[in-house]
Amino acid sequence: MADDIRYRLLVEAVADYAIYMISPQGVVTSWNSGARRLKGYAADEILGQNFATFYTDEDRAGGLPQRVLAAATNEGRFEGEGWRVRKDGSRFWAHVIVDRILDEDGVFIGFAKITRDLTERRRSEEALKRSEERFRLLVQGVTDYAIYMLDPDGRVTNWNFGAERIKGYLPQEIIGEHFSRFYTEEDRAAGLPQIGLETALRDGRFEKEGWRVRKDGKRFWANVVIDPIRNEQGELLGFAKITRDITERRETQKALEQAREAFFQAQKMEAIGQLTGGVAHDFNNLLMAILGSLDLLRKRLPQEPRTDRLLDNAMHAAQRGASLTQRMLAFARRQELKTEPVDAARLVESMNDLLGRSLGGAITVETRFPSGLRPVTADPAQLELALLNLAVNARDAMPNGGEIVISGVERVVTVQGPRLAPGRYLCISVSDTGEGMDEETLARAIEPFFTTKGVGKGTGLGLSMAQGTAEQLGGELVLTSAKGVGTTVELWLPEAIEKAPAPAPAPAASPPPVPSPVGGLTILLVDDDALVLVSTAEMLEDLGHQVLIASSSEAALALLSTDRQVDLVITDHAMPEMTGLELAEIVKATRPTLPIILASGFAELPKIVKADVYKLAKPFSQDALNRAIADAFAQRAF
Ligand SMILES: Nc1ncnc2c1ncn2[C@@H]1O[C@H](COP(=O)(O)OP(=O)(O)OP(=O)(O)O)[C@@H](O)[C@H]1O
Ligand SMILES: [Mg+2]
Repeated sequence: MADDIRYRLLVEAVADYAIYMISPQGVVTSWNSGARRLKGYAADEILGQNFATFYTDEDRAGGLPQRVLAAATNEGRFEGEGWRVRKDGSRFWAHVIVDRILDEDGVFIGFAKITRDLTERRRSEEALKRSEERFRLLVQGVTDYAIYMLDPDGRVTNWNFGAERIKGYLPQEIIGEHFSRFYTEEDRAAGLPQIGLETALRDGRFEKEGWRVRKDGKRFWANVVIDPIRNEQGELLGFAKITRDITERRETQKALEQAREAFFQAQKMEAIGQLTGGVAHDFNNLLMAILGSLDLLRKRLPQEPRTDRLLDNAMHAAQRGASLTQRMLAFARRQELKTEPVDAARLVESMNDLLGRSLGGAITVETRFPSGLRPVTADPAQLELALLNLAVNARDAMPNGGEIVISGVERVVTVQGPRLAPGRYLCISVSDTGEGMDEETLARAIEPFFTTKGVGKGTGLGLSMAQGTAEQLGGELVLTSAKGVGTTVELWLPEAIEKAPAPAPAPAASPPPVPSPVGGLTILLVDDDALVLVSTAEMLEDLGHQVLIASSSEAALALLSTDRQVDLVITDHAMPEMTGLELAEIVKATRPTLPIILASGFAELPKIVKADVYKLAKPFSQDALNRAIADAFAQRAF
């Protein structure tokens, strides 16, 4: 078989390619089975027709067929893609090669045309392109996540809207830059960016939370995922990076934890406070009985140095106990505060001697108060005690001596805080340059009974008491300390509300008149505590009065309903069934002129006491009792 026949048969048989020839003018001169299948024409239908038939109307009008032939004529070959039309009018996307054909003598005899139907491939390519485009738009449009890619070296290659929003860079500012610039300086120095990429390469993924830096230098807490991207051959193309800003979530979580912690702490303090307050209350009564009895014993026993010393000792111990219960009550915020406008600078100045004596020679105290400070609302005695406690703590922190600075500055609180209401405050601070506290001590220092001073040395109530006092006054205590540097304790106290005219020295402010001795009264004494009842009765009798005793308000009322003569009622406040105040109100209703003294160890009395009763703080000495009786009598209503 001749070669050219074999070729013909071969070409004839190819079904996937339209292979045919056209004359130099473009007339179809041969037609294979692929051409038939592709274009739909039988050989006899198309032979002799111009190949421009296969072009779309637009391409024909635009002269494309001629240009194709011209290109093949000039270049020897044309290759291109484009729409072609089948016999039935449908279109297909064709890949076309046109070759110029010369015969053996080099004479130009026409063109060979090979056409392939690429419609399917083009369709899937287009679908892919469309889906890629959609995907790009999707990624691009995501605003809550920074999604971008890195090349294998870690340089940014694209940048979505979320990245722009979270990190602050525009695409043109950041594409091409190394991603390590998003890290903090410390993390960069520690090589974290590289570790992230290496981990992603090794494990196939890297995920971590950490601080990242925005363009403006601000930090945010980020959740970061890095995935390596490889092509089908497994070659590394780069990394996909997804970053989320979870600063807010982290902060809410932290705030929640802190709130929970604070709540537990508050609960614990509340419980300790109740317990302490309860114990201190009972102790107060016991100490009263002890002090009162000792007082009387001293009067009745014959003077003798040996017993005197013992008595002194016992009195001393009981007084120490009483001051301890005072501190406990202060911590439990149950002390009786006698508040008044206090000039803090003057108060501190007046403590000079006391501080000098309590702190010893190695400590100097410097005070810094600007002139013209407004007065604060405080109980001067309690404030003094609080400051003394703070100064003693400062001294203890400076065993080799040093300087304590006590200063005052006015501060204005504008928003409601956890403790402080908006308003004007005086911040009195006591600073030392002593050993300071480590974090653990600092966290617990204010806790009642927490001390580092060893058994028998510290009670651990100094700071608790100062805090209790500050809080009871509507202020707060702020403790700052650094190990080896020193400690500063601030007492924030509300400034006294100014009254319109400067008060002229009120009668109450003048020195109290020496009470005229009042003797021979019949006094109704009410207390549910038998010990207190007995010792107080003893004191009263010792002062020359006659005493009727009642162990409850009901018993007192029963006594008062008889026609027994009573000149004065002294009643405890905290009693079951009916309080002393309730008793006083009932008594006042029927006997408005009968003076009443209300004895109480607590600040539990309502602020506004309706019946005009005279208050006496427990524990009281015989002197205090005597003075109270005199005062109550001097002020009694007629
Ligand atoms: N200025 C200070 N410098 C260093 N540590 C201090 C200072 N103030 C208080 N602390 C620490 O806080 C603890 C508690 O103080 P706080 O005043 O409540 O009790 P205390 O001084 O130990 O005993 P107390 O005051 O009842 O005698 C102290 O034991 C000490 O460890
Ligand atoms: Mg102390």
